Amino acid sequence: MAGFADGSFTLIYLDPPFNTGRVQERQIESARSGGEAPAAGSVVRRGFHGRDYERVRGALRTYDDRFDDYWGFLEPRLFEAWRLLSPEGTLYLHLDYRESHYAKVMLDAVFGRDHFLNELIWAYDYGAKTRRRWPSKHDTILVYVKNPAAYHFDSEAVDREPYMAPGLVTPEKAARGKLPTDVWWHTIVPTTGREKTGYPTQKPEGILRRIVQASSRPGDRVLDAFAGSGTTGAVASVLGREAVLIDANPSAIDVMRGRMPGAVVIARTDQDAVG
Ligand SMILES: C[S@@+](CC[C@H](N)C(=O)[O-])C[C@H]1O[C@@H](n2cnc3c(N)ncnc32)[C@H](O)[C@@H]1O
Repeated sequence: MAGFADGSFTLIYLDPPFNTGRVQERQIESARSGGEAPAAGSVVRRGFHGRDYERVRGALRTYDDRFDDYWGFLEPRLFEAWRLLSPEGTLYLHLDYRESHYAKVMLDAVFGRDHFLNELIWAYDYGAKTRRRWPSKHDTILVYVKNPAAYHFDSEAVDREPYMAPGLVTPEKAARGKLPTDVWWHTIVPTTGREKTGYPTQKPEGILRRIVQASSRPGDRVLDAFAGSGTTGAVASVLGREAVLIDANPSAIDVMRGRMPGAVVIARTDQDAVG
């Protein structure tokens, strides 16, 4: 991420690993104690909402020390993503119920509440259901725009969906379908079929398609910095966008290569990086 120029991407989608754990936190701490300043982080603290940010961060640390595990990993990557967003760009951060409340408070503090656009709920219904509480069957996608006065959003380009009660609207409207709201009912990746790659955390193309359609135009550049099986790239290339996909896991790179045979692989891992 550090290699790209400021404002390089119209759309950035981040689907980070959950429960990143203390290992990564320790790596970040040791990098700092080695005298390496977290450059992107300090820029944001100076440039955006410095005091608010530090106050909220301090409060969350006191409230729940698991916050550090998660935020210590995500923070530098979010700051970098913000730097890479073009002035009309949009950041989508895909999380689940364990993390999304922390992230929303932090992003409001870092980027400013007026940059918040939406909280999308992706609801699905699959897998075992506990009988001890309401089974958790949704993810949360937080959406922030770089410039609230000039962001790109094209609702006309988005795939529409069937009305729940088509008898209540005109036949023309029913035939056209309705614009999705901020609650998206969508199946998980089917266990068989064209889309399935076998990558464990693969997200459905239908979810990414809406995001790419709404928040970028043909020819725009799209970044996914936790690309996994490459869903963002698979969708973006079909829609005529140029996608940059990053993943730390070599098997993710292999899956992406199979899914997008025309893709250019720049570096396989930190160890054998060539560019
Ligand atoms: C939730 S998955 C992303 C799934 C993806 N959206 C898809 O549709 O397949 C998170 C990904 O982050 C990758 N990852 C974890 N730590 C990373 C890091 N430090 N840098 C880049 N990628 C990382 C993992 O290898 C994993 O593929």
